[in-house]
Amino acid sequence: MDAPHFDTGLHPEQLRPDRGTPVETPRDIFAIYQTKNGPEAAPLSAPHMDGPLFEGSVIESAEGKDSITCPWHHWRFDLTTSACLDSPKNEDCEAKNQCLRVNTGPNGTLLLSPHSA
Ligand code: FES
Repeated sequence: MDAPHFDTGLHPEQLRPDRGTPVETPRDIFAIYQTKNGPEAAPLSAPHMDGPLFEGSVIESAEGKDSITCPWHHWRFDLTTSACLDSPKNEDCEAKNQCLRVNTGPNGTLLLSPHSA
């Protein structure tokens, strides 16, 4: 059985190279980021004070994991696990953040699905 997904209607070449590309889904508004490991998606706003996470920059760690840095307080969020990498208490970031996996569908458009699917 196929994992549930949402077809963004976007092709990979339509993604902005410098910041997240906003995509509205029935569940929330997400931003898709170009990373060295392929596109990844996170909510448009940071789980901490709703800062403009989509304006943040993607950084690859020494372990090869991608994170996004929020421009307001510079907290980093893991784009795969949704964990906040800078808050000592994690402040429920994983529950609020819910990053998504991005795959390319049969039409060449980008599909969003949960990392757990
Ligand atoms: S609002 Fe983004 S880290 Fe605080």
